[in-house]
Amino acid sequence: MMGYDAWGAELPVEMYLDSCQASYKYKQGTFYVLQDDFGKLLSSCIVYPLTAFGGVVSERAVGIGSLATPAQQRHRGFATLLLAMLMERLEAEGVDAFFIHSDIHPRLYENLGFAPAPEKCYDKSEGTIPMLRLAGDRSIAPELWQGPTPAE
Ligand SMILES: CC(C)(COP(=O)(O)OP(=O)(O)OC[C@H]1O[C@@H](n2cnc3c(N)ncnc32)[C@H](O)[C@@H]1OP(=O)(O)O)[C@@H](O)C(=O)NCCC(=O)NCCS
Repeated sequence: MMGYDAWGAELPVEMYLDSCQASYKYKQGTFYVLQDDFGKLLSSCIVYPLTAFGGVVSERAVGIGSLATPAQQRHRGFATLLLAMLMERLEAEGVDAFFIHSDIHPRLYENLGFAPAPEKCYDKSEGTIPMLRLAGDRSIAPELWQGPTPAE
């Protein structure tokens, strides 16, 4: 329900939840939540295994999606904290690149070290901004910005 106002498309709550439960996309990933000491949910997102846009960047990349904070808890840094903690943990587990499709102004992600992904990734972006962050604050090597275009 955290992202209901953004993704509910004015569906009745029950229909929206049914669509989430049935979502093929959601079944592919793992949801992570940030909660306080009393178990109150503060922010959440999903992490997908990803062969980084056809192996362009790394075999150990993941996609992060559906970042959401309950409406009454927004602008308190919870989404930023969730992503920062999550990426630190995933990096320790060997993940070396993170992708996000930003539906919003990219500032939130830029502050966490994301930069716009190589242009060749844009064909799948459907109006969102694909963003990439390499583990260990590495920058994106120039050769990763080249290679075959999607049409090739
Ligand atoms: C986007 C969202 C997850 C941010 O959650 P949050 O816990 O409020 O995020 P933070 O407090 O960590 O935000 C830090 C900064 O990111 C930026 N930011 C946050 N939400 C933003 C939004 N909707 N649009 C543009 N910038 C945003 C702001 O710079 C914010 O700083 P501020 O609070 O001083 O203005 C939340 O607004 C939400 O759930 N929205 C609906 C779902 C959605 O659109 N998700 C984004 C998918 S890409």
